[in-house]
Amino acid sequence: MSNTLNSAPLLVVGAGIMGVGIAQVAAQAGHAVMLFDAREGAAAEARAKLAKTLEALAAKGKLSAEDVTQILSRIQAINALDAAASVRLVVEAIVEKLDVKRGLFQQLETIVAADCVLATNTSSISVTAIANGLQHPGRLVGMHFFNPVPLMKLVEVVSGLQTEPAVATAIFDLSKVWGKVPVHARSTPGFIVNRIARPYYAETLALLQEQAATPAVLDACLRAAGFRMGPCELMDLIGHDTNFSVTQSVYEANFFDKRFAPSLVQRELVDGGLLGRKSGRGFYDYADGAAAAAAAAATAVAMAAAESMPMPSAELLRVHGQGPLADRFVAVLETAGQTVQCVPASDWLGLEVDGAQLRLSDGRTASQLGAEVAVFDLPLQAGQDLTLAWAPSLRASEAWTATAAHWLVALGFKPQRIADVPGLVVARTLAMLINEAADAVHQGVCTAEGANAAMKLGVNYPAGPFEWLADWNAGAVIGLLDALDAHYRGERYRVSPWLRQHVWQSLTPSVNCS
Ligand code: NAI
Repeated sequence: MSNTLNSAPLLVVGAGIMGVGIAQVAAQAGHAVMLFDAREGAAAEARAKLAKTLEALAAKGKLSAEDVTQILSRIQAINALDAAASVRLVVEAIVEKLDVKRGLFQQLETIVAADCVLATNTSSISVTAIANGLQHPGRLVGMHFFNPVPLMKLVEVVSGLQTEPAVATAIFDLSKVWGKVPVHARSTPGFIVNRIARPYYAETLALLQEQAATPAVLDACLRAAGFRMGPCELMDLIGHDTNFSVTQSVYEANFFDKRFAPSLVQRELVDGGLLGRKSGRGFYDYADGAAAAAAAAATAVAMAAAESMPMPSAELLRVHGQGPLADRFVAVLETAGQTVQCVPASDWLGLEVDGAQLRLSDGRTASQLGAEVAVFDLPLQAGQDLTLAWAPSLRASEAWTATAAHWLVALGFKPQRIADVPGLVVARTLAMLINEAADAVHQGVCTAEGANAAMKLGVNYPAGPFEWLADWNAGAVIGLLDALDAHYRGERYRVSPWLRQHVWQSLTPSVNCS
């Protein structure tokens, strides 16, 4: 079946925001597109609205007038599904309800040919469940676009239990022809992106619940790690009602696995109508048109931390551990005229100052490690925004705590003091994203390459989970998660079996236990 869908006539059902985007992309790729909506007149209205959008793009020079005419000439609004009997592909983008989608596809089977491919753009319903009751369930496949469809490159090609591999391949190939980056996924709750992304919100919500830091500080730390938006400002943008309901549906669909449990913090926002930008207030206040409230708060945090100060003095400086971070510490300190001893074989990474320690978080709290100890977060972007969470031991003196902050500034960071929580902000968030991606691969939902592409293209992550893993170290990720598990107990931080196997697999030469 591969390639046979190229330039085939198709039907898009549902002329809402997604359906129109899909119709546009298909028409741009040369398909004759029929557009149908259950609400009378909606398809024609949507086509007229699209015409305005395309004309505006032409006015900006992004499309030629000829392109606009061509695209619109290929899209036909229809008033009855019967008119689409000859199409080779149907893409459904209607209301997100299982019984309505099932009913539509069962009706379509009475209209289109037996080899017409049926694709659903569902973002949360099981493709396997939608196919139940069809005469030819093997031709139903998920074709999950991201909003806005013309701009977002990712398409999750979702196979249910009965989807024929040739059908998934045909949709995969067609997505490429449409200029998209398709990724195969198995029909499991949240597919790839909506599943793997859960910890990005969940870890921040957990930190807020235990009052470890403010939304502005958490956002600043994760922006410094390369994310375009911090979790709080992103949840405000998505809308807490929407974000909460996706979390709830993934939680329920996983039989209430505590790993996916929703947060009381978010529930309270939803209950209180503080839905984010759309209601004028969420974590941040958007009243008076302050659309950039979150960004401004995060910038204020970074500015406050950036005050420069002279290099503190020390009798004895040691840089522990090895790798790029240790090298950078040595370089900074030597440039400042300090004499530094190196302890490359140390079992921790960081700076020792007159016996006191500034350690890269390994998941244990500073208080667990000693009295004159502070832990700092995983610094991801050398040379850019170096906002960094850190925490001193609860047993550290005020004087030593002040000195530790000075050292972090001297090393080039913009330190943000937060509560002494295991894994701080970036380290625990990344470890959990990696862990979730590892579980998805372990369970055959997608490949590691698929997960990387999906997270970068579906939610604009600065890198894929397995790219972070390659730069970090599976043993360190497991250690961090185990430390979180030991601290909090419960199911949430259990390590993916894939990660543990990955560590064994990377050990050479092979060891046989008999
Ligand atoms: P929307 O509410 O903008 O549009 C849905 C359209 O479908 C409406 O025009 C409605 O009149 C029509 N409709 C409802 N029932 C119908 C039926 N039985 N037959 C024909 N038309 C019917 O919704 P939106 O946002 O375009 O979403 C559509 C689908 O795409 C949903 O399944 C959603 O989960 C999925 N999706 C949405 C994304 C988003 O960001 N909005 C992202 C990815 C997937």
